[in-house]
Amino acid sequence: MTATLLLTGSQGQLGTTIQQYWPGSALSEQYQRQCVDVNDLDLTNHPALTDYLDQLEPVVIVNAAAYTAVDRAEEEQGSAFRVNEQVVADLASWCKSSSAALYHISTDFVFDGKADSPYATDSATNPVSVYGASKLAGEQQLQALLPDSSTIVRTSWLYSEYGNNFVKTMLRLMGEKDSLGIVADQIGSPTSTHSLVNILFRCIESRAFGIFHWSDGDEISWYDFAAAIQQAGIEFGLLEEAIPLNRLTTAEYPTPAARPAYSVLDRSKTIALLDETPNSWREELFRVVATLAQLEGDPE
Ligand SMILES: NC(=O)c1ccc[n+]([C@@H]2O[C@H](COP(=O)([O-])OP(=O)(O)OC[C@H]3O[C@@H](n4cnc5c(N)ncnc54)[C@H](OP(=O)(O)O)[C@@H]3O)[C@@H](O)[C@H]2O)c1
Repeated sequence: MTATLLLTGSQGQLGTTIQQYWPGSALSEQYQRQCVDVNDLDLTNHPALTDYLDQLEPVVIVNAAAYTAVDRAEEEQGSAFRVNEQVVADLASWCKSSSAALYHISTDFVFDGKADSPYATDSATNPVSVYGASKLAGEQQLQALLPDSSTIVRTSWLYSEYGNNFVKTMLRLMGEKDSLGIVADQIGSPTSTHSLVNILFRCIESRAFGIFHWSDGDEISWYDFAAAIQQAGIEFGLLEEAIPLNRLTTAEYPTPAARPAYSVLDRSKTIALLDETPNSWREELFRVVATLAQLEGDPE
């Protein structure tokens, strides 16, 4: 019988991308994949989760489920910690007792953003938001409970053609408004789910355990990212014309949750260990915008 790999959060933007690349992947020859999302099983229901895992007996779990509403988390601390900490602890405990491996995704928001050079995997964490704190708590549970057979891939500014994300929001607003103000003093690095799935699959194939960092590289501001999104939107026919984009400071665009001012991740360990040649963030962005244009022309 083929061993089972369980994908949680299968309907999220990362989960959907994992499903997209599954057929034809080396992993699909090794594992039978089982997908769950909140409509099938609420992972915070501890007895139901345990029963489900006992029945399924996966040898690998990829946890793409998360509470990701960064601003709402400031009001919904309990929900954020239940999904981002307690579920991770429950998955890790089950994996420990069953000798299964757990691959988990975390975030640049575990850092406070006070650095001025890329964060290494062992840089000091210090989240400045409830969401960041809940993701860090999940990392700590995983490392305490399953240190030798777990992987944490931290990523930043994740986007894709699926779900809700900055790229899709910008394209919509750029089509609706006469001008747009974008924060220009928060520096980070965007990541397409496509490049992240490649790294995740490589980690699983090579059973690479520990903490890894992945983004599409370069240090840019949200303003720079928005300008490139607009350029791609025009090139692929999603936008008719450019609107003026204005640089805002963080103080001019207050949000319920604080964001790190600088959250670039140092990916050198990942690149070296997995022998990767990354694409540029611009290439990744243009690829996703081209797909969005294709989907708009052919919604089926
Ligand atoms: N998005 C970013 O910019 C970003 C940046 C850095 C790191 N990350 C991390 O990357 C990973 C993937 O993010 P993503 O953008 O793909 O997230 P996403 O689109 O929000 O997907 C998360 C999935 O988990 C599901 N989920 C939430 N609560 C659940 C529960 N109690 N039981 C079962 N499933 C539940 C969600 O269902 P519902 O949608 O119905 O709630 C959703 O389908 C997460 O670990 C996230 O923290 C994201």
